[in-house]
Amino acid sequence: MTVGLAADGAVASDPAKTVGPNACAECHKQEAEAWKGSHHFKTFRELPRNTKANEIADKMGVRRIKSDSLCRDCHFTVQNKNNREEPVAGISCESCHSAGQDWIKVHSGFSGKTILFESKAEEKERWKLADSKGMIRPRSFYQLAKNCFGCHVVAREDLVNKGGHRAGSAFELVSWSQGEVRHNTWYSKGRENVPADAARKRMLYLVGLGVELETALRAVGKATARRTYAFEMAKRADRARKQLAAAAKAVPNVPELPKMVELGHSAGLTLNNDRLLTVAADGVSKLLVGMTETYDGSTMAGLDSLIPGADKLKGTARKPDN
Ligand code: HEC
Ligand code: HEC
Ligand code: HEC
Ligand code: HEC
Repeated sequence: MTVGLAADGAVASDPAKTVGPNACAECHKQEAEAWKGSHHFKTFRELPRNTKANEIADKMGVRRIKSDSLCRDCHFTVQNKNNREEPVAGISCESCHSAGQDWIKVHSGFSGKTILFESKAEEKERWKLADSKGMIRPRSFYQLAKNCFGCHVVAREDLVNKGGHRAGSAFELVSWSQGEVRHNTWYSKGRENVPADAARKRMLYLVGLGVELETALRAVGKATARRTYAFEMAKRADRARKQLAAAAKAVPNVPELPKMVELGHSAGLTLNNDRLLTVAADGVSKLLVGMTETYDGSTMAGLDSLIPGADKLKGTARKPDN
């Protein structure tokens, strides 16, 4: 099974199994149009010309931004072509849904039939097979969130302290997924770019906070120097703990939440504490996976007042043109 996840920052869409966004766009035209309006698309062309990018690259001894894996891991999609790894796009479909080669035919094949003749049981089997081949679907809350945070928390001490790269974004999963990134146009046949409904937003919010804590604990574990990186990552872990504690109060019917907060406090946010912080992060991860199997958000209305509203969306969602 190839899942595009890495524990420590780099998000991997396996270049050998990457088909590239044009292959997805053959069927997913509207989704691709939405993507083309996002920073994820534009970074491909713009990053190499960006002055700040060149400053960071110089400090890191990177000669070509597009061909160095340090920058490529988070800014580009890389595909094997003629036995060479080539950057083919910015952050694209497979950066979030995972490399497609093994599942692209499965997910879209209606079990070798047509949409009308595939039985419910066959449909279920088809999605199970796509999952097992690594596809990350909208309902794979945990994997989706892991990928976002894998890039948006820059868990590379050198890149931050020496390169001067930002330590990451003030990322929140609802507001950051429902603005310019949103491309829920497929199931409405391109009529509408459907926002996540209330229950889905609650799941995105909680899983986002949990993955933020998990990622930050692992990132603090990598800290070896009392400098920007260590401070920023410790702040991030502390903020995630506090927000999870507030969520735990708002939905007392979710016992996993106080356990997560407790794990967040179980290891000191200090230098050279990788072993204990990793144990805590692994515990958070386990709780999160369990939560995505137990809940669908419908019983968590208590969270609604904590979730950022429409005025906080990051960018604007594209309106479909038909
Ligand atoms: C041959 C046409 C085709 C291609 C190419 C294609 N898809 Fe799809 N995709 C579909 C169809 C059809 C569905 C809906 C299946 C259904 O209704 O059960 C779908 C559904 C999806 C979904 C929603 C899954 C869900 O859980 O509802 C995602 C995500 C997706 N595709 C991503 C991709 C990505 C990423 C690529 C490129 C790697 C891709 N698709 C390439 C036809 C295609
Ligand atoms: C771990 C993932 C990761 C790696 C590795 C990475 N970046 Fe970034 N970079 C990001 C993210 C995420 C953002 C967006 C931050 C935001 O806007 O919230 C970003 C933003 C930037 C920006 C814009 C920041 C600004 O201040 O305007 C530049 C420039 C940049 N990166 C350059 C680079 C260069 C050059 C490399 C390679 C030496 C690199 N990055 C490696 C994740 C990464
Ligand atoms: C930044 C990560 C990211 C990128 C890049 C991305 N997706 Fe998605 N995709 C998601 C998320 C997250 C959802 C679920 C959205 C939600 O919760 O509202 C989704 C949902 C979908 C759906 C379901 C749409 C529906 O109508 O419900 C399809 C199909 C899809 N993506 C295909 C694609 C294709 C094709 C591309 C490339 C052109 C792409 N995605 C690029 C993260 C991404
Ligand atoms: C492969 C790494 C990667 C993944 C995975 C990823 N991002 Fe990003 N994202 C970036 C980088 C890098 C930038 C900055 C691009 C630039 O402006 O140069 C960015 C920018 C953004 C922006 C625009 C921020 C702004 O300044 O306006 C949003 C919104 C965003 N990402 C949301 C998401 C969401 C939601 C997910 C997960 C569903 C996600 N990203 C997954 C790397 C990633």
